[in-house]
Amino acid sequence: MLRNYTSTYPITDLSTPVTGTSALNRFASDIADGLNRTLKTTSSKYFYDAEGSRLFQQIMHLPEYYLTRCEQEIFTTHKQTIAKQLADGQGSFNLVDLGAGDATKTKLILQELLQQNAAFTYVPVDISGDAVSELCENLQHELPQLQTQAIVGDYFDALDWLDATTPGRKVLLFLGSNIGNFAPEERTAFLQKVREHMQPGDMLLIGMDLCKAPETILQAYNDASGVTAAFNLNLLHRINRELEGNFIVEQFAHFALYDPQQGVMKSYVVSKQQQDVSIKATGQTFHFNAWEAIHTESSYKFTKQQLHDIAIENGFTLQHIFQDKNDYFADVLYTVDQHDRTEPGLRGKLF
Ligand code: AVI
Repeated sequence: MLRNYTSTYPITDLSTPVTGTSALNRFASDIADGLNRTLKTTSSKYFYDAEGSRLFQQIMHLPEYYLTRCEQEIFTTHKQTIAKQLADGQGSFNLVDLGAGDATKTKLILQELLQQNAAFTYVPVDISGDAVSELCENLQHELPQLQTQAIVGDYFDALDWLDATTPGRKVLLFLGSNIGNFAPEERTAFLQKVREHMQPGDMLLIGMDLCKAPETILQAYNDASGVTAAFNLNLLHRINRELEGNFIVEQFAHFALYDPQQGVMKSYVVSKQQQDVSIKATGQTFHFNAWEAIHTESSYKFTKQQLHDIAIENGFTLQHIFQDKNDYFADVLYTVDQHDRTEPGLRGKLF
């Protein structure tokens, strides 16, 4: 345990004690690595400092950003069926919420599971100790009857720990289109690793944004009030603040582009003029040609066919696709069949 949590709900801290310095060194070397490439790029995980997280909360309330509202609608409309399918009429289970955050949407399912008298323990997992601690305090007030075992740490450390300490049926949640921020090969690696932690009878509910009219998607990442632009450009401010960079942020612009063939929304910051930027923590200066871009994020969208293909490729059975009334978003329930005892190395190769 690294911190003192005030919540009386149990919180297990599996996070590695990264000192401020080693986290900063990692940030600096990742940024230098990305900016030294011919096509400059940065990882979207660096969006989420305190200011980036605050801006993302604002994004989720934007009229153009349909994703959060659609998933909320799905849970509000289908919560009875979802809860019934997750509980599966079987015994007790762990409901593991990967990247729980403030669990706004999950609470709809939690309430319903409690109403249906399901026997389960809620296991929120988040890398942010502050987010987990706040969530536990909030759950104590809102759902005091909930049995909770919170975990601070990496998703797979949490799953290892659960397998070692609390075996039993698992239902995993990976909500909010976070899967869309993985490149295809990262997505497969992630899902295969998740699958390796699952046994017959376990389930995985994933939020996936669906392909739709390109303008609708484009507007969601290019809102009229400029919050997404601020969110994207905050990365440069963050580099200035934490890595002693000298980006003149006004000389960069947010640019977002949807590729309907690949089904991917791509976000960039574009240099409006030729310039050099020094980042002290990297010990380097980076040259930008006029209109040269940094690729800052990919947000993949999925066809219905892909939802089925993903099941086959990763050794799941697709049990149900829950959708909003406009067919904009899907929460997909993947299961591991009772008879499935496929060796991890063979999964996806038998079909
Ligand atoms: C967190 N993630 C699912 C969001 C998305 O839609 O890709 C992040 C985001 N980027 C711009 N707007 C929202």
